[in-house]
Formats: sequence, structure tokens, C-alpha cells
Amino acid sequence: MGKADSRGGRVVKVFDTTLRDGEQTPGVAFPLDAKIKIARQLDRLGVDVIEAGFPAASKGEFEAVKKIADLGLNSTICALARIVRGDVDSALDSNADMVHVFISTSKIQIEHTIKKSREEIIQLAVDAVEYIKDHGRECMFSAMDATRTEMDYLKEIYGAVEEAGVDIINVPDTVGIATPFKFHAMIKELREHLKVPIDVHCHNDFGLAVANTYAAVLAGANEVQVTVNGIGERAGNAALEEVVMILHSLEGIKTNIKTEELVNTSKLVERLSGIRIPPNKPIVGANAFSHESGIHAHGVLKDARTFEPGVITPEMVGHRRRIVIGKHAGRHQIRKILEDAGYHVDEETLTKIMDKVKELGDKGKKVTDLDLFTIAEVVLGELKKEERAIVVDEVTVLTGNKITPTAVINAEVEGKRKVTSAIGLGPVDAALNAVKELAGESIKVNLTEFRMDAISGGSDALAEVYVTVEDDEGHTFTAKAAGEDIVMASMDAIIHAINYLMLMRKKGKH
Ligand code: KIV
Ligand code: ZN
Repeated sequence: MGKADSRGGRVVKVFDTTLRDGEQTPGVAFPLDAKIKIARQLDRLGVDVIEAGFPAASKGEFEAVKKIADLGLNSTICALARIVRGDVDSALDSNADMVHVFISTSKIQIEHTIKKSREEIIQLAVDAVEYIKDHGRECMFSAMDATRTEMDYLKEIYGAVEEAGVDIINVPDTVGIATPFKFHAMIKELREHLKVPIDVHCHNDFGLAVANTYAAVLAGANEVQVTVNGIGERAGNAALEEVVMILHSLEGIKTNIKTEELVNTSKLVERLSGIRIPPNKPIVGANAFSHESGIHAHGVLKDARTFEPGVITPEMVGHRRRIVIGKHAGRHQIRKILEDAGYHVDEETLTKIMDKVKELGDKGKKVTDLDLFTIAEVVLGELKKEERAIVVDEVTVLTGNKITPTAVINAEVEGKRKVTSAIGLGPVDAALNAVKELAGESIKVNLTEFRMDAISGGSDALAEVYVTVEDDEGHTFTAKAAGEDIVMASMDAIIHAINYLMLMRKKGKH
């Protein structure tokens, strides 16, 4: 079983192979600076071992492992090598603390790729382990394709390397065909046969990599070989974040992982590998702690444990809880979300906010809590109807590849009906020119700043627009508006700024 910590709990070690097996993901190649960034983050995360690469594979790979080995990280740095002398020498020359040697042991792989007798394979394994130990390095030995290898032969080869002084053996499920009960039985049998610590390396061809890794730990495996976000050869490897949180939160088995760094690490690997994680990915996915409005969200607002596992919180893994507010969201629920975030609104303001949320919901937009806060800020900053010099009734904007973008606005300006039109470089520019035209006789304005952000992702994201408007007397006002239509949001922001400047002028405050 795994070592005990000072308080008597079991501690399972984490061996991360994101930089080696993870880089074998089709289409992934980490440049050197990306490898260094990932290695530093894995060290911060607290992984026990970082498999930094396969030095014999190329000059670049050798350099990368050497650079990582020379960083002076707390994690043990491991280099992969086939059992051949040249590979092992490259791994030793890379300055890695540990060398991970492997050779195929299954009938199918021996016949097609090695073409050596089983006895010769054992001798090569023993020689490699002794050679690495003679060079004063830690050594891991993998019997590749272990789950398709006869148990008697596995025991023989693992027993031989144990005698040769190996520090840890790895049991790889190379083609991902293990199932949790069978893998549990296999690891249990090996555990009873060997004294040396056992590591497991599971591939995800049937979606069982995490379950198999977990089963192996329950059977006595001392170390788990995993990758961040589960990236790796073919369907990938067991995901670090899932294995660690299962052990931590469901079994009370400790690791040295600082779980609050899990989301940061996942995001870094997502960005640098280009492999997007699905929103429903456990632990680190965008939806892992998201709740749609309705019974679930209502319960979660009272006590998150009602519709979350409870033994894991977003804070524990560096995530945040999101409430997605649909058009069915109740008044009580929206008020509570706003109050929790520090927005205290009266009944009238709440009604206006609710109307905007429902309007967006009717258009099929999923409103997140971040969208809601933006809507609240905009509504809270709005002027009363009687305070507005410009009240817009109708807006038409035309754009296309064969026409000049044109905006037409029908509005009431200081009590008089006015229709203006203007052209622009794009639809937003045309609308802003039409607004300036509209205000023209009453106040001359200039747009001195314009910024737009998408609050949530997706093509239906709510756009947040900030504008700073300066009048002809040099007074400025910065206004904000939000909406799913960028032209309308831009126009709302600039009209709000102009109305404010005109109101101040009327009140003699400017
Ligand atoms: O999947 C596998 O068998 C491997 C070995 C090199 C351990 O990645
Ligand atoms: Zn592998």
C-alpha cells in the first residue's frame, strides 16, 4: 500500500506524463518555452514526478529534458528510454533524476516489434536497471502492454528487475483494454507478489482510464501515472485532476497535489496544447460547478451541497460556481444572486433587470451571473425617462458587402420628433454617427474612447460597451451598456452619455 503521512493517512504519489505521453496526443507538439512553463506549473501543483520527455527521440527533446532537469524544481524529473544502451545513455546525459525504461512484454508486441526471446527480454531489462542504478539514478521499469501479457511472465520480469534494484515498477494498460475489476485483481496479485512500489499507467480507449487507475489504487498501487486534462496517445491517459479528486474527496486518500492549482494547470495545458476541454469535463470544465436556474439553482443558493457533491467545492480546485439564469428565473432567485454580489436594488429596479433577463431569455440567450451583474450595473446607472433629452423609438442599421453601412434613427430630442441617418465604416460607426447627428443641434459631442468586451463566450455572448463622450465645453462622461446586439449596445452607451451631459448642462452643473 502507499506510504503513510505523519497523521497516518495513506499518500499516493502522482507521476505526471503530460510532457511525454501527453505530447504524443495527435497534433500536439510543445515548443521548449511551453514545456518549461508546464514543468514549472506541475511543480507548483505538487506532482511528485514530472516525466519531461524521451531524450533519445531527438536533439530538441534531449535539450528540453535537460533544461527542465536543470531548473532545480522540487519534483523528481524523469526521462523515458527504451531498454537499449543508446537511449539509456541519452536519458542519463540529460541529467534527469530518474530513468524510466520500457520494453514490450505481450505476445503480439514481442512477435511484431521486438523479435527476441522472453529470456533475452528479461536479461535486457535487468542489465538496463543495473546500469541505471550504477549511475546513481532512480529507475522505473515498465512492461509495455502489461494488461495483454501472461501473469506468470509479468511476475517473472517484474521479480527480476526488483532483484536488480529497480525503485518502482509501472504496469501500463498500453491499449486501454483493462476494466476496473480485472485491473484491480491484476494489481492485487502483483502487489502480493512484489515488494517494490507499483505505479499504473492507463490509457482511455474505452473511457475507463480514470476508473482503472482508481481501482488500481484500491488494490494497492502506490503511484498513479496521469496527464493534465487526460491528454495522451489516441484517446488519452487517465486525467490527473479526476484521479486526484476521486482519491482526495471520495476516498480520503492523500496526494501531494495542491488541489487549488488544478484549474490553473488545466487552463495552461489547454492553451499550450490547443486541445480544448469540453465544458462538461469533470472538475475543471466550465460547467463543472454551473447550475441552470430552477430547482437546482434555488437549492444551491441556499446550500451548495443540495445539488453538488459537497465533498468537493469550486474553491478546492481553483474553480468558481456559476449560476446560469434562464427566462424562468424567479424574482427571489435574481434578488438573492444580486444581493450576494453586493447589488442592493429596489422593487422597480429589480423589475427592470428581470425584464431585460427575460427579453434575452426569449431570444434564446443563456444569461450567466456575470451577464446579470452587467445588466444590473447598466440599469442602476440609467436615467429616468423624464431626465433623458434623447429618447430613441426606432433604429434601423443596414450593412453588407455591397452597401455602405447606414443607420437611421427615429427619436424624440428635447420633445421634438427627429429622424436622422448617417453612414459609417461599419454598422457601429454608422449608428454612432447617426446619434451624433441627432444630438447635433442641442450638444456637440465627440467619442474619445470606445471599448467592447464579450462577457461570456459564444456567438450569443453579451457585449459590454464602454464609451467616453466629450462635449464642446470639454466635459466628459463615461457610460456603459450591454446587450447581445453590439450595434444597439454601442448606441445605448453613447446615448446614455449624451443624455447625462445634457442633463448636467440643464441643471447648471457643468
Ligand atoms: O502506454 C504505454 O505503455 C507507455 C509506456 C512507455 C509506459 O506510454
Ligand atoms: Zn502510454
